[in-house]
Amino acid sequence: MRKINWYPGHMNKAKNQIEEKLSLVDVVIEVLDARVPESSRNPVVAKLTDQKPKVIVLNKSDLADPKLTKRWKNYYENENTVVVALDSKHNSKLPELLKAIKKASAAKIEKLTQKGVVNPVIRAICVGIPNCGKSTILNRLVGKNVAVVGNKPGVTKNQNWLKVNQQIELLDTPGILWPKFEDPEVGMKLAAIGSIKETVFQFDDVALFLLDYLHSFYPKQLDKYLNTIDFDENLPELLMTMTQKFGFRDDYDRYSYHFIQQVRKLKLGQITFDYLKEVSHDD
Ligand code: G4P
Repeated sequence: MRKINWYPGHMNKAKNQIEEKLSLVDVVIEVLDARVPESSRNPVVAKLTDQKPKVIVLNKSDLADPKLTKRWKNYYENENTVVVALDSKHNSKLPELLKAIKKASAAKIEKLTQKGVVNPVIRAICVGIPNCGKSTILNRLVGKNVAVVGNKPGVTKNQNWLKVNQQIELLDTPGILWPKFEDPEVGMKLAAIGSIKETVFQFDDVALFLLDYLHSFYPKQLDKYLNTIDFDENLPELLMTMTQKFGFRDDYDRYSYHFIQQVRKLKLGQITFDYLKEVSHDD
């Protein structure tokens, strides 16, 4: 598998910026792509936020396999972490997310109330890798309340807070994280879902990766899509056969791109690319 070389450098700078932002908030909203929850997760941030109340959003759940989304939800949920699966593109108010933020910050609210703070306000930030849906979620949460709450004393300059409701304020700029890139398979998965620039990968590499994955984990869907094509043909040959049968003559590269698009557009159904076996908290 060829390695995708992406987002070089500046990691320490990004890490420091994130650390600085995290120090300003009570709750972290970590946005993952439900099709690749683990591959879209930044391990450094997962660690930095260990001690903070957290909401993990499995976003784009409309595109992911619902059975696996449920498993990932169970997997991530713990006493510090509330997990919600969202389709923030089509769901305009995100009430489940508001509920989750409240749940994650219950202890903090309780503490502030005991200290005598009337109507305590919880501050949150959205973090995630590019294209996972941070801005969509931020816009949904803030809605028409675009009024900036303003700089708070004692915090970094130019850090504005947006009012979500009486109890929640959101940092106006999401924290952009770099994805993991040691594992070439992670690169393939992020390329498959359209999260990294098309100029940094070869379409046929990604199409072959997809065929292999679908063959192992979604054989019925692949078989249906292939129709009369022999499902068990060896991989590069299978892609070549598909190229011809689907009318792309010998334009392997153009068909590879088309096939990736077909998968993204759910022509093979809702697919999750990070597989997880059934988990239970007793495991
Ligand atoms: P970012 O800030 O994390 O970089 O992501 P952003 O919100 O810009 O979203 C990236 C793309 O993902 C956008 O599509 C957005 O509409 C889409 N998206 C966000 N959340 C969801 C979701 O829950 N389900 C689905 N299906 N799509 C989602 P785009 O093509 O760039 O723009 P648009 O044409 O959709 O406006």
